[in-house]
Amino acid sequence: MSKALDGVRILDFTHVQSGPTCTQLLAWFGADVIKVEKSGDGDATRAQLRDIPHADSLYFTMLNHNKRSVTLDTKKPKGKAVLEKLIKTCDVMVENFAPGALDRMGFTWERIQELNPRMIVASVKGFGPGPYELCKVYENVAQCAGGSASTTGFPDGPPMVTGAQIGDSGTGLHLALGIVAALYQRNSTGRGQKVLAAMQDSVLNLCRVKLRDQQRLERTGVMKEYPQYPDEHFGNAVPRAGNASGGGQPGSILKCKGWETDPNAYIYFITQAAVWPAVCKVIGEESWIDDAAYATPGARLLHLKPIFARIEQWTKTKDKFEVMEILNQYDIPCGPILSMKEIAEEPSLRETGTIVEIDHPVRGKYLTVGNPIKMSDSKTEVTRSPLLGEHTDEVMMQLGYSREEIDELRADGII
Ligand code: COA
Repeated sequence: MSKALDGVRILDFTHVQSGPTCTQLLAWFGADVIKVEKSGDGDATRAQLRDIPHADSLYFTMLNHNKRSVTLDTKKPKGKAVLEKLIKTCDVMVENFAPGALDRMGFTWERIQELNPRMIVASVKGFGPGPYELCKVYENVAQCAGGSASTTGFPDGPPMVTGAQIGDSGTGLHLALGIVAALYQRNSTGRGQKVLAAMQDSVLNLCRVKLRDQQRLERTGVMKEYPQYPDEHFGNAVPRAGNASGGGQPGSILKCKGWETDPNAYIYFITQAAVWPAVCKVIGEESWIDDAAYATPGARLLHLKPIFARIEQWTKTKDKFEVMEILNQYDIPCGPILSMKEIAEEPSLRETGTIVEIDHPVRGKYLTVGNPIKMSDSKTEVTRSPLLGEHTDEVMMQLGYSREEIDELRADGII
């Protein structure tokens, strides 16, 4: 079967998480992704968080499937000459070095355009142009600078980062979309272009609803869907809302049977307006259906805490899967809090290819997250991540180097 990005060749100059997330997705869509790594150690994540001595870490393997790996010292003249050949034969260069690193290496946008005017140069940086553009940035810095941390956590606690890697993987996703759009535009213009996804911008994009709320707050001084309402004072910035949805459909995380010993015996419960009568019936409060204090969404906003406390009395009598089964009979939106263990063992996620078991020659079998984007005419087959430099000779030969030239470059420490 053909793949959506068949024929697209990516010079993958990425490392750590954000860039590799992007190029892994492109590889899953069928692009030929050639990962260029420093000779010696390669991508630093190969050795980070290692769970098996001498084996590439799960951090690395889970972000670099379906790629080829080439080692190359791109700071030495002979290495630069190889990189130039790669630039001439690739469609896209993806990089997430610290600001200025590519320029210092001699590969400015102008130079790349000279070598290949069709090349798309796609970058992840921590910040866009402005006071922080030269800063190095990791995941949690982006979460803090992009508005996520100030709006996450409980009202009486400090700002909080989330386990979802919205700064790294989230930015990689944004960049992948930019690359595909630039490839599409190139079909009509014949030109490459620069594509930038800044981590702060990507996190902010994912926190769009909080900027919505900032403006609502400034206009009205109050946000009735937030847990601060009606008893507490609102300040001048969007507060942390705990587990409240903060949106049009109030929701909360509620305890289920076993919560005393199981840290994940909880369910997210949404009191969608359309199913309010069903909610009342399920919890045994049928009088609330017509009671003026509870009957309308607006009236309920004054009583969300006692309403959820009453619903929790009911959810505590059942385990989270029983709660889910009962609520789904009434179309009441809800979601069990699933642990990573439960997710890893969930058969339906294996069947769809969202969780995939991979065999690796050094580390053996491991689980990974497959392509979350499913396409009917471009199926993803996840293949293992490459060993460091596994494809150096193969790629060098494709670039036209002879066996002798390859051996000489290796002897010189270039590849
Ligand atoms: N051959 C020779 N040198 C190479 C090379 C190769 N194949 N690949 C990279 N290098 C060099 C770079 O040119 C750079 O050299 P320089 O500092 O002398 O110019 C050096 O390796 C290190 O690159 P750098 O990106 O600064 O790595 P770092 O480990 O110091 O910083 C980050 C890591 C992630 C903080 C930084 O890359 C960054 O801010 N990236 C942008 C934001 C980002 O993606 N953050 C999220 C990461 S998940």
